[in-house]
Amino acid sequence: MESTPLKLIVVFLIHQQLLYSSASALPKEAHPTKSGYLPVNTTTGSAIFYAFYEAQQHPTNNTSLSQTPIVIWLQGGPGCSSMTGNFYELGPWRVAPSLNQTLELRPNPGSWNRIFGLLFLDNPIGTGFSIASTPEEIPTDQEGVARHLFVAITKFIGLDPLFKSRPIYITGESYAGKYVPSIGYYILKRNPLLPVSKRVNLHGLAISNGLTDPETQVGTHALQSYYLGLINEKQKTQMEKLQLEAIRLTKAGNWSDATDARDNVFSFLENVTGLATSLDFRRYRAYDTYWVEDFLKDPEVKRALGVNESMVFEKCSKVVGAALHSDVMKSVRYKMEYLVKNTKVLLYQGQCDLRDGVFSAESWMKKMKWEGIKKFLDAERYVWYVNGVLAGYVRKSDNLSHVVVLAAGHLVATDQAVNSQAMIEDWILDRGLFFNKRIQNQFTDV
Ligand SMILES: *[C@@H]1O[C@H](CO)[C@@H](O)[C@H](O)[C@H]1NC(C)=O
Ligand SMILES: *[C@@H]1O[C@H](CO)[C@@H](O)[C@H](O)[C@H]1NC(C)=O
Ligand SMILES: *[C@@H]1O[C@H](CO)[C@@H](O)[C@H](O)[C@H]1NC(C)=O
Ligand SMILES: *[C@@H]1O[C@H](CO)[C@@H](O)[C@H](O)[C@H]1NC(C)=O
Ligand SMILES: *[C@@H]1O[C@H](CO)[C@@H](O)[C@H](O)[C@H]1NC(C)=O
Ligand SMILES: *[C@@H]1O[C@H](CO)[C@@H](O)[C@H](O)[C@H]1NC(C)=O
Ligand SMILES: *[C@@H]1O[C@H](CO)[C@@H](O)[C@H](O)[C@H]1NC(C)=O
Ligand SMILES: *[C@@H]1O[C@H](CO)[C@@H](O)[C@H](O)[C@H]1NC(C)=O
Repeated sequence: MESTPLKLIVVFLIHQQLLYSSASALPKEAHPTKSGYLPVNTTTGSAIFYAFYEAQQHPTNNTSLSQTPIVIWLQGGPGCSSMTGNFYELGPWRVAPSLNQTLELRPNPGSWNRIFGLLFLDNPIGTGFSIASTPEEIPTDQEGVARHLFVAITKFIGLDPLFKSRPIYITGESYAGKYVPSIGYYILKRNPLLPVSKRVNLHGLAISNGLTDPETQVGTHALQSYYLGLINEKQKTQMEKLQLEAIRLTKAGNWSDATDARDNVFSFLENVTGLATSLDFRRYRAYDTYWVEDFLKDPEVKRALGVNESMVFEKCSKVVGAALHSDVMKSVRYKMEYLVKNTKVLLYQGQCDLRDGVFSAESWMKKMKWEGIKKFLDAERYVWYVNGVLAGYVRKSDNLSHVVVLAAGHLVATDQAVNSQAMIEDWILDRGLFFNKRIQNQFTDV
């Protein structure tokens, strides 16, 4: 989104005097199908907040609701609430300022629940509306995160007998580039040990602009920025030095300092370029995610979502960020290597992201130890159109798909709602550029 100066002023004023009278802040039609809490520890009372939106239509006239996929969304951070995904990115209703300077909900034409159930989880505990009974109970590593998520997901599936048979797809963004592989890995390792009735029916994983193999990815920013014309050669050298420091600390297992060193890379980039955000080099102001934060302060909205009015909503929790600070630079590439052998995986990035963008993703993808990687790297990259308009590029080989979304930054679904919807639907249903000969030959319906 390119903001004209006039727009900037208007939006600025709105934020300054945002005192929305919440006449019908969350109208009935915008209520989630179900929302509330999934306990992860009944002794302590810690629980994961969820909001579920049933599919608006069934994927084909031949599929009953008991076969309709459920897409789970996990925000990044660490510690950022999936309500940003819900109300600012891919949910059925998005928050935006109206002309009379109130925040209102508008239907999202690119909602991911058009033909799939869509489940947002505030993960880990302590994030968004989720409850951590004590800060000490917040997980400090991916195993701990996955353990809680597994409990929450199985509790959710238990809420309705129709959920049991539905294919589950786990998706997320940014730091969820670590959560998504970690819960996927946990499920696939755990399922065989459980009776069939207790397994999670995992069918695939998708990651938007993910941080997955930080040691590799942190080495890409100087070069990307240099070739975009954002820094000159001298600055590139300075930035490379900062990157090498992050890599050195990572290799030394000095995890907390390694995370700080990575932050320095972006701090340097933002300082020398004057960019408002490294999340999208086109933006003159950061993404307006505070709209969601302001909206969720409303007691009426909290009540409608099944949240106690005394809950204080922060779009990103500092406490959770601190709990996982030493986890940031730890790689989960080995989990992706396992997953791509056992389920389907989609990696997609907005082209204008400087944080976890295309070059950053490709740098670790090509390092994957997987028998299919050579074929994948040699695979044709197709030009992708949505409704006849250029949308990006798709490459697919075997279980791995990669999509570059044009005219999008870090928050792909915010920037390209309809294209992101077309992508996730085609990928899940093996249609279009994700057509899968093997599967289509086996089941010749539609
Ligand atoms: C619940 O929390 C308590 C206290 O932290 C801990 O001892 C126990 O192992 C937890 N239970 C589960 C199932 O994680
Ligand atoms: C279902 O069938 C009707 C009538 O044939 C068609 O118009 C509609 O597009 C179909 N819906 C889906 C989701 O395929
Ligand atoms: C603001 O406008 C919306 C429609 O865009 C309307 O529903 C709402 O009642 C208005 N609020 C006030 C305080 O005028
Ligand atoms: C971690 O790195 C910092 C900065 O280089 C250094 O001061 C500190 O002693 C290191 N800590 C450990 C435990 O190695
Ligand atoms: C960026 O600028 C801020 C404010 O001037 C400063 O505190 C910070 O150290 C700078 N970061 C780097 C990496 O130079
Ligand atoms: C909300 O939380 C407060 C403080 O923890 C508690 O006293 C109150 O009973 C809760 N209200 C409801 C409706 O659960
Ligand atoms: C892709 O996943 C399937 C399981 O869904 C597995 O049988 C197959 O071996 C995988 N392909 C590769 C190349 O790893
Ligand atoms: C469902 O698919 C079968 C073939 O798989 C076809 O014979 C049948 O007509 C379809 N039913 C509907 C309602 O589309």
